[in-house]
Amino acid sequence: MKAAIITGLNTTPELREINEPNLENDQQQIITVVASPLKNYDRLRTKSGFYGSFKTFPSITGSDGVGTLENGTHVYTQGISGMFAEKAVITKGQYVVLPESLNPALAAALPNAITGSLVPLRLRGYMKKDMTVLINGATGFTGQIAVQAAKYLKAKRIIATGRDQERLNHLKNLGATELILLNQSEEKISGQFKKIQSVAPIDIVLDYLWGHVAELFIRLIKDGPTHQTRFINLGNNAGTDIKLNADTIRSSAIEIIGAGTGSYTKEEYNRIHQEIFPEIFQLAAKGILTANLETAALENIAEVWNRKAEAGRRIVFTMN
Ligand SMILES: NC(=O)c1ccc[n+]([C@@H]2O[C@H](COP(=O)([O-])OP(=O)(O)OC[C@H]3O[C@@H](n4cnc5c(N)ncnc54)[C@H](OP(=O)(O)O)[C@@H]3O)[C@@H](O)[C@H]2O)c1
Repeated sequence: MKAAIITGLNTTPELREINEPNLENDQQQIITVVASPLKNYDRLRTKSGFYGSFKTFPSITGSDGVGTLENGTHVYTQGISGMFAEKAVITKGQYVVLPESLNPALAAALPNAITGSLVPLRLRGYMKKDMTVLINGATGFTGQIAVQAAKYLKAKRIIATGRDQERLNHLKNLGATELILLNQSEEKISGQFKKIQSVAPIDIVLDYLWGHVAELFIRLIKDGPTHQTRFINLGNNAGTDIKLNADTIRSSAIEIIGAGTGSYTKEEYNRIHQEIFPEIFQLAAKGILTANLETAALENIAEVWNRKAEAGRRIVFTMN
């Protein structure tokens, strides 16, 4: 079968013809892969210094996607073996059956973004109707899903930040109520933020950026009215470190937490897969949740790997 293999960290996956995978025990099964998304996580796993980097080589890349069972049913699942391949090994029975009308590429692309948006809103932000949510770095693929997730969960105000005005404007079509352009002076950002806070304080921040901009928002939240704000970090596209004064967490009601692979308990993981993913697949099948995709053939893995997707789009490998 064809598979995208890496032979060491910090290398580009190569398309190779390899033997189909074998089952190691009766708790596993094989699926035929239909579509598998190329996420930031898949790239990070091939790099040194990431907590989830590959430990053994050669390894098949690609962590999740859509496949067909022997009876032809389409399912979303996560691979024990890599899913940038024609076949993959999964844990027996551990999959979500997809609505028949749902585009497999869309179904493949959504769970990672949902894990970085709707899941932390519910499981870490305890999101309730009429809350105010700020999405920091909202123009990316996950940010766009986050805006729609906050709307679906009935946020009253959804504040989206980003460094590109045109892409920010598009978020209003998805449900954002206010926009903050990051590509302007700190003074202007602070002024806009304070104005937003003066109407109603922020309940939840979904932060994909970290770095200086997160530092700024944390300071502005601290300087605002005392109000429980759950600041949830999900990515660090603008920097891996911030300066945090002890004073900030003692003199405000801010809670700074994070969510990602390894942060959910087994019960939460089961809830995500058994309740939340089926729910979002239904939403997507009804057209309530939308996303921008670019499909690519696995044969083009090396070229695709070394370029960025068009802003806000997710590349999905489709296997024929
Ligand atoms: N923890 C989780 O469970 C989880 C789940 C999903 C994703 N994530 C993480 O969330 C982050 C976003 O994912 P994604 O799928 O949305 O990726 P993406 O589509 O590549 O989007 C990246 C976003 O970050 C912005 N950005 C990049 N560098 C920036 C900088 N220096 N300053 C300001 N904005 C910057 C981009 O802005 P432009 O549009 O202007 O380029 C874009 O909005 C990634 O770090 C990913 O690993 C985490």
